[in-house]
Amino acid sequence: METLQAILTRRSIRKFENKEIAEELIIKLLEAAMYAPSARNTQPWHFVVINDRKKLDEIPRLHPYADMCYDAPLAIMVCGDLNLEPLEGYIAINCAAATQNLLLAAHDLGLGAVWLGVYPRKERMEKLSKFFGLPSNIIPVSLVAIGYPAENKEKPERFNPERIHYNSW
Ligand SMILES: Cc1cc2nc3c(=O)[nH]c(=O)nc-3n(C[C@H](O)[C@H](O)[C@H](O)COP(=O)(O)O)c2cc1C
Repeated sequence: METLQAILTRRSIRKFENKEIAEELIIKLLEAAMYAPSARNTQPWHFVVINDRKKLDEIPRLHPYADMCYDAPLAIMVCGDLNLEPLEGYIAINCAAATQNLLLAAHDLGLGAVWLGVYPRKERMEKLSKFFGLPSNIIPVSLVAIGYPAENKEKPERFNPERIHYNSW
């Protein structure tokens, strides 16, 4: 898929077919995520790949807006490593870039995905860290639920000239 087309047609997908995602595709998603830009090229991310049905079914108990995980065959938790990037703000920004790459790669591969916000919501961060056994230097930033899409979404109109400021506000 052409890049601009992928950016404009990607939508959050929350309904999934009952179909596994091949390991080869999972690796492609992770590779795309790891090619995101990062401040000083620290690449401070780690990815927790969750494809165990029992663990996926636990996620809605740890995150209030994650019911689609009951149907998703896969979720990837994007985490940042404070030992690689001590500035928490940069951890969040770098992991957000990796998350967006993941979403776009999923769309390109014919998958559907949705970003589930974790950072900076302390309760979600604490519950997920505990459940997935994250070390203290690892911050969970986002979760991405992924599967073969079972819904179609139209492209909304979002271009807004009022938000553009040339040369000064
Ligand atoms: C930081 C962030 C947190 C989000 N958290 C959730 C979430 O917890 N649950 C959910 O269903 N969608 C979540 N979303 C997806 C947004 O609802 C979605 O991106 C937005 O409605 C725009 O729709 P689109 O992705 O189809 O363009 C989140 C998106 C971002 C960027």
